[in-house]
Amino acid sequence: MSEVRSDVLLDVRDLRCTIPTPRGDVKVLSGVNVTLDRGQTLGLVGESGSGKSMFVRSLMGITPPQAVLEGTARFDGQDLLTLPKTEARQIWGRRIGMVFQDPMTSLNPVVRIGRQVGEAAEKHLGLTRQQARRRAIELLELVGIPEPGKRHRSYPHEFSGGMRQRVTIAMALACEPDLLIADEATTALDVTVQQQILDLLQEIQRERHMAMILVSHDLGVVSDRCDEVAVMYAGRIVEHAPTDRLFAEHRHRYTGALLRAIPRFDRPKHSVLETIEGTPPNLAALPPGCAFAPRCRFSVDACTTAVPPMTPAEDERHRFACYNPSTAEDRRDDPVVSPGTMSTSKEAVL
Ligand SMILES: Nc1ncnc2c1ncn2[C@@H]1O[C@H](COP(=O)(O)OP(=O)(O)OP(=O)(O)O)[C@@H](O)[C@H]1O
Ligand code: SF4
Ligand SMILES: [Mg+2]
Repeated sequence: MSEVRSDVLLDVRDLRCTIPTPRGDVKVLSGVNVTLDRGQTLGLVGESGSGKSMFVRSLMGITPPQAVLEGTARFDGQDLLTLPKTEARQIWGRRIGMVFQDPMTSLNPVVRIGRQVGEAAEKHLGLTRQQARRRAIELLELVGIPEPGKRHRSYPHEFSGGMRQRVTIAMALACEPDLLIADEATTALDVTVQQQILDLLQEIQRERHMAMILVSHDLGVVSDRCDEVAVMYAGRIVEHAPTDRLFAEHRHRYTGALLRAIPRFDRPKHSVLETIEGTPPNLAALPPGCAFAPRCRFSVDACTTAVPPMTPAEDERHRFACYNPSTAEDRRDDPVVSPGTMSTSKEAVL
């Protein structure tokens, strides 16, 4: 029975994204379900190529032009997939803001920073050029740019990588969005700047009761910043749970493997890190059952015949798709994993 939630902002059902290519149809997303409440933070993790970016890009209407999207993605009740583009554009950039990994993909190198930040507010909120400039200066201050009254006249190349990323956050926040999507927004930054930017996002999010999707390779990053975590593998969410439950009581074998592959501060100095053998499957020729089966040492017969359905755990907010899930006994020898015990250094990136 599906749970009724009163404060739902985003409700994605059976989202599929297929990209036709000469080597066949690439099934980038194979039925993603996500529900996100206002003010909540969802962490989205998984190996490279699992579909994290394509998922959030589908919500923003920025998938490749040949991509075929199916399913529904309701934002505040309106389906972003079928809404006429003119109406969807009122949501993209205004009610949903997005920050990308490389700030230079969002910044125009020949336009002054202040102008770029103010532009969204001018366009969506109908501000005059002068009002937009004032708003840009306020936003630059909010994201911690020193001397924003002067620095708004700078060009992107005059800023460091961390400052440029702060500018793209200011742009994404220009219209006070209800949902902010950060796709690997801090991956390219050094650990200290990464922490600062994540702290900033979290602070703004709490102040404004904004929902957030934090996309990351790095479970360390999401562990202490998200209310819930969804684990993606080969275009599907394979486990989704409140963050503390995911770390303490994960059931899917892929989640367990991911967690055991993370360097942690509490691990004995010379202990060997586990790795996940093999490579992710070819999305143009997915196996008939669980996509993780060729790499899974717990695979049983059912795993290679049909895709495992999402099943609720004891806590119904925790769901997983695995025919032979881990038990408390299996997890007994796992070192205690809790937020803060994991490294967020580059080595932690899978
Ligand atoms: N234009 C395209 N044509 C065919 N396949 C594509 C195209 N764009 C993306 N893909 C495939 O879609 C899959 C999902 O890509 P996506 O960028 O969402 O992964 P990701 O989880 O964000 O990975 P990363 O952690 O490296 O950012 C990948 O296997 C990728 O090769
Ligand atoms: S469904 Fe089977 S193959 Fe897939 S993770 Fe679970 S045990 Fe492993
Ligand atoms: Mg990505």
